[in-house]
Amino acid sequence: MAGKSMQAVHYSGYGGGAAGLKHVEVPIPSPKKDEILLKLEATSINPFDWKVQKGMLRPFLPPKFPFIPCVDVTGEVAEVGPGVRSFKAGDKVVAMLNVSSSGGLAEYAVAPVPFTVSRPPELSPVEGAGLPTAAVTALQALKAAGTKFGGTDEPSNVLITAASGGVGHFVVQLAKLANLHVTATCGARNLELVKSLGADEVLDYKTPDGASLKSPSNRKYDFVIHCTTGIAWSTFEPNLTTNGKVIDITPSVKAVATCVLKKVTFSKKKLVPLLLAPKMEDLNFVVELVKEGKIKTVVDSRHPLSKAEEAWAKSIDGHATGKIIVEM
Ligand SMILES: NC(=O)c1ccc[n+]([C@@H]2O[C@H](COP(=O)([O-])OP(=O)(O)OC[C@H]3O[C@@H](n4cnc5c(N)ncnc54)[C@H](OP(=O)(O)O)[C@@H]3O)[C@@H](O)[C@H]2O)c1
Repeated sequence: MAGKSMQAVHYSGYGGGAAGLKHVEVPIPSPKKDEILLKLEATSINPFDWKVQKGMLRPFLPPKFPFIPCVDVTGEVAEVGPGVRSFKAGDKVVAMLNVSSSGGLAEYAVAPVPFTVSRPPELSPVEGAGLPTAAVTALQALKAAGTKFGGTDEPSNVLITAASGGVGHFVVQLAKLANLHVTATCGARNLELVKSLGADEVLDYKTPDGASLKSPSNRKYDFVIHCTTGIAWSTFEPNLTTNGKVIDITPSVKAVATCVLKKVTFSKKKLVPLLLAPKMEDLNFVVELVKEGKIKTVVDSRHPLSKAEEAWAKSIDGHATGKIIVEM
């Protein structure tokens, strides 16, 4: 592909939201050692992508401008880099791109072999593109709370906040697979959807009961998988069991301070900040579950690459139900 060009969407500085995205023609990248070049089928937009554009991870990300965002992709292998034996041209894959070079909003992208898995035919490109960040974070958050998925889990009560979102809808499904009792929060319009994903009880977060996080069946939570922002420790605390934990995937500075305070005071109730650690085995695990029909990707909306800015704006708006997908 050397010397050929492709359509891509990039931004050239911090800020600007959807208006900061530009459609450009750029050279197709070349795969290096342990990399493969993918002709992309789909990508999904995660809040992480526009948080990087906003400058929330400066000075580390992006390492330079212009920058093509998006890390979760599906595609067909077009070329393999030196030393790659596990994939060949024509293979269909699901991959998580390197966050510092990203590249998902484009016709082609280079993926690292260690974070690439085969896409079985049962899994569509759209479903697959929704998995790497959201489903793997959901899985790792439940594991951080002690869930083992081996049929040996003690019956526990879990609260999942923002259960209608990209991450939350996977946490609900995975928690039910592990036989946990699930209480979930979401907006009124998604109560039925979240119940259909397996939640045992659902709270509308805009009602007083929802805001208090109180279980309708008066349960205390063994753990919370916290997938939104703006809920104080003082709201979680009275709803936790004696050894209850909050696994916080959106930790603020205040949350990190609470985490430290709970540690130094030997508190039995804990707050655990969680950052996704890309792992091929976890990506394989969720791909297999979708293949077997045990979990599914709820798709909020599908947008062509030519209208990527609409998808970007929708994600920034913060009201996605499941995953926002861009198709090539
Ligand atoms: N730590 C990590 O490694 C990691 C990994 C992935 C994601 N994250 C972070 O996790 C957060 C969630 O990600 P996501 O992809 O799931 O986001 P998302 O898809 O954009 O979440 C949107 C959903 O959240 C719901 N929601 C918003 N505020 C809520 C509240 N107070 N209570 C209940 N539901 C609420 C919205 O419902 P309505 O439309 O009804 O308001 C909407 O359905 C983001 O901040 C993201 O950056 C962190």
